[in-house]
Amino acid sequence: MAWWQEGVFYHIYPRSFADSNGDGIGDLRGIIARLDYLAGTPDALGVDAIWLTPTYPSPMKDFGYDVSDYLGVHPDFGDLDTMDELIAACHNRGVRVILDYVPNHTSDQHPWFRASRASRENPFRDWYCWHDPRPDGSPPNNWLGAFGGIAWEWDERTGQFYLHSFLKEQPDLNWRNPAVRTAMLDVMRYWFRRGVDGFRIDVLGMVLKDPLLRDNPPNPDYDPATSRRARNRQRLVYNRNYAPDCYEAARWMRAVADEFPERMLVGEVFGPPEVLAGYYGGERLDGIHLAFNFNLLGGYDTPFTPWDARTWRAIVDASERGLPAGAQPAWALGNHDQSRLLSRLGNDGLEERRARVAAAILLTLRGTPFIYYGEEIGMRDVPIPPDREQDPARFGSAGRDPERTPMQWDDTPNAGFTTGIPWLPVGDTRINVAAQRRDPNSLLALYRRLITLRHATPALRRGSYRSLDGCPPDVFAYVRAEGASRAFIAANFAAEPRSIATPAEFIDRPLLRTSHPAREERATVRLDLDGCEACVIVTDAA
Ligand code: NOJ
Ligand code: CA
Repeated sequence: MAWWQEGVFYHIYPRSFADSNGDGIGDLRGIIARLDYLAGTPDALGVDAIWLTPTYPSPMKDFGYDVSDYLGVHPDFGDLDTMDELIAACHNRGVRVILDYVPNHTSDQHPWFRASRASRENPFRDWYCWHDPRPDGSPPNNWLGAFGGIAWEWDERTGQFYLHSFLKEQPDLNWRNPAVRTAMLDVMRYWFRRGVDGFRIDVLGMVLKDPLLRDNPPNPDYDPATSRRARNRQRLVYNRNYAPDCYEAARWMRAVADEFPERMLVGEVFGPPEVLAGYYGGERLDGIHLAFNFNLLGGYDTPFTPWDARTWRAIVDASERGLPAGAQPAWALGNHDQSRLLSRLGNDGLEERRARVAAAILLTLRGTPFIYYGEEIGMRDVPIPPDREQDPARFGSAGRDPERTPMQWDDTPNAGFTTGIPWLPVGDTRINVAAQRRDPNSLLALYRRLITLRHATPALRRGSYRSLDGCPPDVFAYVRAEGASRAFIAANFAAEPRSIATPAEFIDRPLLRTSHPAREERATVRLDLDGCEACVIVTDAA
């Protein structure tokens, strides 16, 4: 098994993780200084890899997803030498580093786009998606931008529209131009040579769109009351998951990764497992190594996924059925685009218990788990006063600042994140790393226990998955198996206790309870689950 199949990933939003120089913005040196927290020390979280959202030079209109130089580091974060140092420091402790690769669009300040918009004759003109208006002067088609409004911007000087699937400051590259493809694939090679272990690929599913620019049809399921994004008025048939072209793009990228040993690609893609399957390359598995399954989270094309055992089971079972043989899922419960897990799980005093159950599922499923920084201590969305809002994008009704606030290291006023003024307000500092490190039953302690158990148990690391019938409707239970190694997971989503029979082979085996991770306990014939509690029982632990 490869490192990315057995490993646990930790997703860092560099701007908010740790600030080393007091300017209020997290940076690479800050991350280096906090590596002990992540791995390589006896009480570290124990993750195997980190993913950094974009650290490239950028006007920061979309906080780094508007790249103006793919080969550099934004001075807010550091410089190339510090990036090399970070990679080396991670490798020294056995931690892999993946960067964010943003192939769909550049910044409008990227030299390629500046040249492209200079004139119709410029050699870079065809590097972006320029089109004439329709005869009545309107945009070439009805595609909508992800952050609201039409996805086309009129350029007065050259008399054409350019496509921007996100902000107008993020023009879409034209991947049908071989020169673009070569230049962008060379970006990957450049970072692989610098020692980067892989990439998270931003909006991979939009890189190639319909060359005929057909209008998207209306979405009959669109409900403005529950949908978070106006774009969902349409079914994104012609500009997202446009198959087979988008699957080809995954193959081009994979071929480059394969030029280097042990590199990996994980794609940000959206859809049911059958659609994700194409990005893996189908049965041939010659596409990306991992495709995110965001369906436990929801909130992109649909409302947030409800807290419901049957729904969660259905999502995992569908993934097992829908992916090609040998493909491994990738799971996440949160990221920098979505309301934080704790804030999505209610406000009735049980949300932390639910988050513990969710963590137990994330870290025991078949598939590569991604933890979003702060999730492991139960950080919540932080309310942002209007005068401190930063995210210009409207993702649903609000920006994404609430889920991007500074990491809460301790209970000092700036949570140990900065000595200066933090770029976004700090949340409730009673929730912090230092306090939870001292408490063997904290959420952080649970994450550590689960990660340790996963590493120690072949069944959890690489075993098969089978969900169990016959449980009460509120209980999602499954068995993972690899040779003689076995793990049994039962998650009670209800607020009230539930009791199930312990499968025979797990009786008398060590049991981990999400609400008391430090408790030494062995399974008995009946497994009594408290309200919002999950248990993990493994056969092969001492
Ligand atoms: C997805 C990224 O996660 C998000 O933060 C960004 O705004 C869009 N892609 C556009 O790059
Ligand atoms: Ca800084």
